[in-house]
Amino acid sequence: MINIRTAPPSSSLESPVDHLNACHRRIEERLLTLERIGPHLRERAEEARAALQAVFWFFDSSGANHTADEEESFFPRFAARVSPEEQQFLNDLQMEHTKAESIYDQLKTHVGGMAMPPTESDQAIYIELAAALCAIYRQHIQNEDLRFPVIANRTLTNDDLDAIRQEMKQRRGL
Ligand SMILES: [Fe+2]
Ligand SMILES: [Fe+2]
Repeated sequence: MINIRTAPPSSSLESPVDHLNACHRRIEERLLTLERIGPHLRERAEEARAALQAVFWFFDSSGANHTADEEESFFPRFAARVSPEEQQFLNDLQMEHTKAESIYDQLKTHVGGMAMPPTESDQAIYIELAAALCAIYRQHIQNEDLRFPVIANRTLTNDDLDAIRQEMKQRRGL
């Protein structure tokens, strides 16, 4: 059976920076699932399709909210208080979001157009796109884990954190 780990309960939104970190761990679980599906894509096609639907559902909901948290709630509040080097780092993160989203869209489109069961060519393209997504996203998460909390802790006021918390809840309909 293809191992799909279920997500742990969503960590509290009361601590926005910790929530980002917890979300990274959940994203990494889905990336691992995408990799694990590759070798089984053809001979366990139905199971693989169900697993992929679950992963895509996660990225389209929680993953999209996570990116919006960073781009709409955190980055703009950092803007006035970071060094030029840090600003470049944030610009790079934003660019990585765009690249990762583009590869994700290609992967999703590819999966949507695959034969059932998938052909050898379908499988090869799937493995290539999944590997590309995993590579860029894992590096991106590593970069964020390393520097994001440091920048957030230094620059954000309690009022900022209150506002971010509120926005994150609204984004999730809470
Ligand atoms: Fe990010
Ligand atoms: Fe992130």
